[in-house]
Amino acid sequence: MTVEETIRLTKRALGIEPSATLAVDSRAKALAAAGKDIVNFGVGEPDFPTPPAATEAATEAIREGFTKYTPAAGIPQLRKAIREKLLRDNGLDYDPEEIVVSVGAKHSLYNAFQVLCEVGDEVLVPSPYWVTYPEQVRLAGGVPVFVKTDKPAGYKLDVAALKAHVTPRTRILILNSPSNPTGAVVPPSEMEAVAEFVLRHNLYLISDEVYEKLVYHGAVHRSPAAVDPEVKRRTVVINGVSKAYAMTGWRIGYAAAPLAVAKAMAAFQGHVTSNPTSIAQRAALGALTGDSEAVTAMVTEFEARRDYMVSRLEAIPGLRTPEPEGAFYVFPSLGGLAGARVAGRTLADGSDLAMILLEEAGVAVVPGVAFGKPDAVRFSYANSMANIEKGMDRVEEVLSKAS
Ligand SMILES: Cc1ncc(COP(=O)(O)O)c(C=O)c1O
Repeated sequence: MTVEETIRLTKRALGIEPSATLAVDSRAKALAAAGKDIVNFGVGEPDFPTPPAATEAATEAIREGFTKYTPAAGIPQLRKAIREKLLRDNGLDYDPEEIVVSVGAKHSLYNAFQVLCEVGDEVLVPSPYWVTYPEQVRLAGGVPVFVKTDKPAGYKLDVAALKAHVTPRTRILILNSPSNPTGAVVPPSEMEAVAEFVLRHNLYLISDEVYEKLVYHGAVHRSPAAVDPEVKRRTVVINGVSKAYAMTGWRIGYAAAPLAVAKAMAAFQGHVTSNPTSIAQRAALGALTGDSEAVTAMVTEFEARRDYMVSRLEAIPGLRTPEPEGAFYVFPSLGGLAGARVAGRTLADGSDLAMILLEEAGVAVVPGVAFGKPDAVRFSYANSMANIEKGMDRVEEVLSKAS
């Protein structure tokens, strides 16, 4: 008997699906390391440098010796800066005590599910969804209930569909606008319907707003917590610096929630990680209080790439490419290409497409099955325009051979 065979892992551990986004990314990196020229559209992080306002603040923190434990929920200056950000950008008035800084928005989400989701509770998860939501719901003992948002007109949240999935056990709705993977943005008017739905069914709302800054062509992000104070009392707003400030590696996210929820999240975190890294907190403070030039420049560049990538994908016969309005992803599905033959293989689903693109075109994308939509693939345009052009040429060439 090997050592591995004698180890008994918990059901909790065995139930976790490995992150498919990370799996594709590492496969693409392995191929690249082996010398293959890979255009990586699998990435989920901005390809821009962290702005100097953040890096300089971090350097200063190190020089000052700001290297000790901080309060578990974050340093007061950062919580205050987040309070001001929420007021300025979202029209949300939170007390700093209602804000908890964590090790990335992913960690904030985890804390939120741990304190709000009771064993057996049902959590409404609009689908396609970000890979981590169902896993975090399950880790809290909850049951994810998927609600399709895939309409002929594109990916649109439909409150009637949400209603149809409510049962006496429904307790939480997780909302992600702008969305990873679809790029869909819930319009302000629809946010009102969502807010009304949450109130009517006495639900909690976890609103993941990490892509809020990345909206294009006039699309508007509105936090559902801003719709009505009653909704704010039932909402946990999740955000962070990873996407808006190209700070994925620094690991700073935050939650804003009613005091009782925030306190529970802080207490929970106090026994799991303690504070997020002191230096990274100072970097986040620098980013949030620095000028917004770097963010604006990044959004302008993302918009140009989005337009280009969407136009190239739309020109591929058969592929169905709903227009994304935010984040940095395009999420086409096979449409008329389903069942086609390419390079001696049958395109049965998005996983086949991802494999064919990786092997035949040297282009990495993420299979849609990771997001609950097996006939789709996710393209990220967090890559240079030159690489996007090269990658799109290759995708077009391979798919032009579909028969
Ligand atoms: C929808 C969504 N929420 C949260 C996160 C996590 O962000 P962070 O780096 O702050 O943990 C991501 C990262 O990919 C994401 O796509």
